[in-house]
Amino acid sequence: MSSTSKNTGGPARGSVTGAGSPAGGNSAVQVEPAFAASTGRSPWWSTAVIYQIYPRSFSDADGNGMGDLKGVTDRLPYLSRLGIDAVWISPFYVSPQADAGYDVADYRDVDPRFGTLTDFDQMLAAAHERGIRVIVDLVPNHTSDQHAWFRQALESGPGSAARDRYMFRDGRGEHGELPPNNWQSVFGGPAWTRLEEADDGAATGPQWYLHLFDARQPDLNWQNEEVRQEMVSILRFWLDRGVDGFRIDVAHGLVKAEGLPDWAGQAAMVSGESSTAEATNVEDEEEVRMGGSAQQEPPRSPMFDQEGVHDIYRQWNEVLAEYHGDRMLVAEAWVEPAERLARYIRPGEMHQAFNFDFLLAGWNARRMAKSIDESLTAAASVGAPSTWVLSNHDTIRHPTRFGLADPTSVPKGIGRQDEQPDESLGLARARAATLIMLALPGSAYLYQGEELGLPEHTELDHAARQDPAYFRTGGEERGRDGCRVPLPWNSQSAGFGFGPDDAAEPWLPQPESFGRYAVDRQDGVPGSTLEFYRSALSHRARFQLGTGVLVWSPANKPGSGVLSFTNGQVLMVANLSTDSIDLPPEHQVIISSGPDALDGSHLSPNAAVWMTPRS
Ligand code: GLC
Repeated sequence: MSSTSKNTGGPARGSVTGAGSPAGGNSAVQVEPAFAASTGRSPWWSTAVIYQIYPRSFSDADGNGMGDLKGVTDRLPYLSRLGIDAVWISPFYVSPQADAGYDVADYRDVDPRFGTLTDFDQMLAAAHERGIRVIVDLVPNHTSDQHAWFRQALESGPGSAARDRYMFRDGRGEHGELPPNNWQSVFGGPAWTRLEEADDGAATGPQWYLHLFDARQPDLNWQNEEVRQEMVSILRFWLDRGVDGFRIDVAHGLVKAEGLPDWAGQAAMVSGESSTAEATNVEDEEEVRMGGSAQQEPPRSPMFDQEGVHDIYRQWNEVLAEYHGDRMLVAEAWVEPAERLARYIRPGEMHQAFNFDFLLAGWNARRMAKSIDESLTAAASVGAPSTWVLSNHDTIRHPTRFGLADPTSVPKGIGRQDEQPDESLGLARARAATLIMLALPGSAYLYQGEELGLPEHTELDHAARQDPAYFRTGGEERGRDGCRVPLPWNSQSAGFGFGPDDAAEPWLPQPESFGRYAVDRQDGVPGSTLEFYRSALSHRARFQLGTGVLVWSPANKPGSGVLSFTNGQVLMVANLSTDSIDLPPEHQVIISSGPDALDGSHLSPNAAVWMTPRS
């Protein structure tokens, strides 16, 4: 037995205490999100469980092999039954799909692959009827190269108003043959592409344009007033239709440093490197890399997190405030440390930011505790609630990450030739991590399929891969396709029920193992991951954990591998160590992470429970 958990008693409200107390481990720490206190009320999003729908892979109603908006409408009863509060839908706009829809050609219409605007309106109304709110994705950093503006920019010469909407520059070198600076694309390779026209009119030959991502995703120029006005008009278009909020893609990237100075670093979304040998589930004190949340601020790249982005969000906040119903903005900003990220959710800016530090903390009690503490403290310092997330469409699904030899690593995709995960160990840890996450105050983001315990597809063929990052890195990054595989709804049907029986093959092949995870194999089955999620979400709502206050338990001793806190009446205990631990006898278990979680009054390794005081 490595330790004994003791409840710390009821949570008295208190002031925010400094980070690091759980690492010290001996005293209970109170961290109160100040949001409700400062506003006197909690808008829906501050405690919501928000389910990410990746529409290409959710449900295919029209049978073209790709999911669609009608598929979302059809599955709303499933989502209601799951117990979520809102959905965030990844892009469904008109797009050539060079980056799975994050390359938008028309921001005001639905791509025919996904349906029509009428399908959208019907989906929105049906969701609202069920009390499910709808957040859509806005991609303001770049458009598709098929967007009318970019076509105009190509046709108009250098110096034209059409070119000024994008980041065109003359090249360096005698004939402009060198890119304007040395920036690298997040997807690999140079962040600049030179136009092909032999004579583009510029003194030094064809100009170059900037793209932080794929060459088919040219970056907009956010110093251009027309760009700013257009994006506000797009916000209004969807607000008028009734959406409840926007997830802002690459929110930290819109404004670049003046003069576009050279920068030797590699821009990245996920810092995928493993944290070396110590990064096992054995806690290793100060040497453990703390999920990228370093004490010292890392040097900021000239592409990201520039001061100018905040003006944009202040303006958008005002636009949203004109509409009734607590419309919201959530930032996708890969920014560290937590205090820096908190600047995006200051009063009058965005409402939430994804907490990627928590996602990157891996299966490691100290890193998780530190991330939780720092996130709550930083968010509370600006009067905002915190958010939590374990998986999304850009990262390896967490059951797979946690099944790797280094369960704190976040590789940029996994292929057949790479280490394969321990599937059952990963799932056990994933379910325990879910209990940790859902017990935390604030709002939580779920990624479609995690409620089924879906693993990553780790053996996709080269020919099936579609992620531009795979191609731009020459396959070095396996890419994000493995977490985007169409969902299995029915183990007996073709394509596991992703589409109708006569549907085209799903756009990405599903692994055979998906049959075991299909909804029909889990629905109503005690102990299944789906029933586990339903139960956890219902307890979360019943005990109002979203609005609660976190109090660290003394069981968080450095090196113990135990993560434990109370939130209201609920005591959460997670065992990230390799030994069983005792559970407090004065408490009873209300939910455990899996069938093997408990051994009498002991909590097994790789497991978690929620407990309440025995009455
Ligand atoms: C965001 C999206 C990602 C996309 C990128 C470029 O990070 O989540 O999927 O590839 O932006 O738009």
